[in-house]
Amino acid sequence: MRSKHLLYVIICCNTLIIICGNILHHPCSFLPRCRCRLEHLKNVVEVDCRHTELKRIPTVPSYVIKLILTHNLIEEIPDGVFANNTILTEIDMSYNKIHRLTEMSFKGLQNLLKLSLHNNDLSKGNNSVGARTFSHLKKLKYLNLKNNFVENYQPDISQLGSLESLHIDFLSNGISLMSKQYSKLKNLAMLDLSGSSGKCSLPILNNESFQFIPQVKHLDISTCKIQQIHKGALTALKNITYMDVSDNTCIKFEGLENITSVSYQEFTKTSLQYVFADGNRVQSIEKYTLTYFPKSLKFLSVRRNPLKFGHYISYVFSLTNLETIDVSDLYHHKSDLYPEKCIVDSICTCKEDSLNEPSYIEHSWMSSLYIKDEIRKKDIPDIVSLAEIKIPKNLKHINYSSASLIMDIPKLILSESKLETVDFSNNILHSMIGPIYNVTSLKTLNVANNFYINISKFFFSSDFKNLESLNFHNNLLGIILPDDIDGAIFHNLESLIELVLSNNRIPNLPENIFKSQRNLQKLDLSENIFTDITFRLSHMMHLKEIDLSGNRITIISDPITLQWDYLAKQHNFSVDLNNNLLECNCISIKFIEWMKTTNVHLKNIKKYKCMLWNRTIIALHNPKETYNLLKKHCTSYEYLELALVSGVLLFIILIMGSLIYRYRWKLRYLYYIVKVKYSSLHSETEEEYSYMYGAFVSYADEDRIFVHKTLLQKLEVEHGIQLCLHKRNFLPGNDIATNIASAIHNSRKTLVIMSHNFLKSYWCMFEYNMARMENIYERRNENVVFLIFYEQMSPRDLPLNVLEMVQPKSYVEYPNDEYGDTVFWDQLVNALK
Ligand SMILES: *[C@@H]1O[C@H](CO)[C@@H](O)[C@H](O)[C@H]1NC(C)=O
Ligand SMILES: *[C@@H]1O[C@H](CO)[C@@H](O)[C@H](O)[C@H]1NC(C)=O
Ligand SMILES: *[C@@H]1O[C@H](CO)[C@@H](O)[C@H](O)[C@H]1NC(C)=O
Ligand SMILES: *[C@@H]1O[C@H](CO)[C@@H](O)[C@H](O)[C@H]1NC(C)=O
Ligand SMILES: *[C@@H]1O[C@H](CO)[C@@H](O)[C@H](O)[C@H]1NC(C)=O
Ligand SMILES: *[C@@H]1O[C@H](CO)[C@@H](O)[C@H](O)[C@H]1NC(C)=O
Repeated sequence: MRSKHLLYVIICCNTLIIICGNILHHPCSFLPRCRCRLEHLKNVVEVDCRHTELKRIPTVPSYVIKLILTHNLIEEIPDGVFANNTILTEIDMSYNKIHRLTEMSFKGLQNLLKLSLHNNDLSKGNNSVGARTFSHLKKLKYLNLKNNFVENYQPDISQLGSLESLHIDFLSNGISLMSKQYSKLKNLAMLDLSGSSGKCSLPILNNESFQFIPQVKHLDISTCKIQQIHKGALTALKNITYMDVSDNTCIKFEGLENITSVSYQEFTKTSLQYVFADGNRVQSIEKYTLTYFPKSLKFLSVRRNPLKFGHYISYVFSLTNLETIDVSDLYHHKSDLYPEKCIVDSICTCKEDSLNEPSYIEHSWMSSLYIKDEIRKKDIPDIVSLAEIKIPKNLKHINYSSASLIMDIPKLILSESKLETVDFSNNILHSMIGPIYNVTSLKTLNVANNFYINISKFFFSSDFKNLESLNFHNNLLGIILPDDIDGAIFHNLESLIELVLSNNRIPNLPENIFKSQRNLQKLDLSENIFTDITFRLSHMMHLKEIDLSGNRITIISDPITLQWDYLAKQHNFSVDLNNNLLECNCISIKFIEWMKTTNVHLKNIKKYKCMLWNRTIIALHNPKETYNLLKKHCTSYEYLELALVSGVLLFIILIMGSLIYRYRWKLRYLYYIVKVKYSSLHSETEEEYSYMYGAFVSYADEDRIFVHKTLLQKLEVEHGIQLCLHKRNFLPGNDIATNIASAIHNSRKTLVIMSHNFLKSYWCMFEYNMARMENIYERRNENVVFLIFYEQMSPRDLPLNVLEMVQPKSYVEYPNDEYGDTVFWDQLVNALK
């Protein structure tokens, strides 16, 4: 365990140097072409001479702790060149032309921990490594000799008693045997023979290949052109925890069987925890093979294998300690860069033809996952015959990406597990029906690059309450999301921190779609077809970033910018509006003004462009400038607009005014008549409407004597015609106009005592006009108004609306002689009866 930790430390340091190398180093005083970095606390110096065309190793002062000489032209290490450098802990001489190491090469380096000599010329032919070459390196923990050998050569490294990590070439023609000297390296924990970073050829592995390295915990034999793995080959590796057999494209089904099944009693006792078998040609795994894997297995990666789904999957799930399973990229092998020639014998029993085209996995495989179990009806009453899917109780990560899986996700109940990440990206899934239960520990779900069109509103059951990251990049949710008015789809995802909905052809989202996402920090809506933003964000108090780039947004409306400003007040909040169809015109001027003043961080603003009123596209990297330009343009526009608007308003007012004027009497009449009718709702509705009065008399106050004396006497007393006089019959308390309208309405006729005074009186004219309206609208033109010309009047004195009523049968002139008097009263009584 201790050594494993150390390994990680060393790797970390390595990257650190590369990162820091060019930034912090200054030219060395003793070696100007190199760079030095002073470690202040310890008073030691790191020297970096990479890429300086050095031909010889420079002598460096004794306080140097680290020396980097990579990528130079050094050919040899002179004897004793490091004799003074006793505190040196790390030397990197990779990428040089060193061809020989002697006993004195490393004299003085008794504290060296790390030595890199990869990519040199230390081949067997040069007799490059002597028996005592490494005798001084008592503390060396890391040695890299990759890319040196061109043939089978195992230099004597048995003196490196502290060595923990060895990276070396291994080229063998037939059966591969690690030499006996390795057994002396008691601390060797990691052996890296991988052909991906060096040269490796291990055509045949048998029970003796690894017999001298039982101590190794981490074995990397990836890309080693393995053709056959004989039974028992790996049983010697008693303490193995990590094994990488990836990219041995000749390993097929049988190979995997040999890795695992052989003398499995032994093997299952090992502590193997990590297995990488990526990029092989394993098509199928005999269903019991997996039961031979030690129960300790935590990590199984079989990426880039043309695996077919079979029953074995349920046995994968029987590895109870499994934490991670990676079966991604199943058809990647088609693009092998360097196809290997496999020994014909070992070509597996699988049919070649099925290698040529991906055989898409049908929906039915799911059924193989169902292992009859007690139905958990208590939780989900409406699902009747649903069994639980057994998955290893420690399983945390499933990577199922790029597996050409075609299916809809049905209702599923998983067994108790610690599932945290699920990657189903790059498949051909198109509907998420669900619901899925028992995923309370799930934090990350990636379903990018599928053909999702449809998610049901109940797919994300309440068991998704801890989901933090959801990736839907490149699906087709634009079809379904705009209809989710109540935000039902994401309703249960209360812990969501990051949501990716980019590239989904979403045209808009309902206001409440993200109503539960109070914890969201990052929202990616880029590459959709939004024209407008309408969804609410102001409740997302932790939102830091929203990506709206690559849409079709022309303008962001006020309510939205207000919400954004509000968020920006809480913390650093950024919005990316790059690559939209922003507009700079008099309509969007407010938005541009907002851009100028807001605290919202406008990401990528240097790239923003917008379209001016005249359709030219300009850069919008300086909103202030653009705003000033717009302001100038829009003030004249504003005046024009104002003039236009007020012109139109004036016109409308004029039209309305003249209409009202024209129909003023009608309007007043209707108003009062409605009022009258309302106040006397009880009044009779019979057909035969009997009037309350025979006549309403409309007269000027100056003519009252005639009316009160003569008229009243003649008509009411002598002829029994009930008259309505305002002095006598109007109800006190009612307003006068209503009284008038009511009187006219309730009288058979209206008698108008026309005189000059009448024409002058406002109320008289009011009465006259109301009567006229009654005549027109209520009595179907049956001549309600009867005029008595009490004085001599010429037509010139009469206004138009009086003249139009003067018809032969509807007026009499008041005579002033005795005879005329009789005729006058007869006429009048006739007209009123
Ligand atoms: C390897 O197997 C052979 C027989 O298959 C056996 O004779 C030999 O002793 C085994 N070697 C080791 C180291 O187990
Ligand atoms: C395997 O590891 C255990 C404990 O770490 C150790 O005691 C044992 O010696 C190791 N076995 C070999 C063959 O190195
Ligand atoms: C599996 O082991 C047997 C016996 O050791 C050997 O004959 C066979 O070739 C091996 N298979 C592969 C694919 O290595
Ligand atoms: C799953 O595998 C794919 C390809 O093999 C890889 O790109 C991706 O990062 C993996 N996902 C996770 C969550 O590790
Ligand atoms: C989505 O799925 C539901 C239920 O399975 C179905 O009723 C609906 O028609 C589907 N919608 C689309 C757009 O496919
Ligand atoms: C806000 O965050 C952005 C990146 O998201 C960063 O570039 C910017 O400098 C930050 N601003 C402040 C004031 O922290």
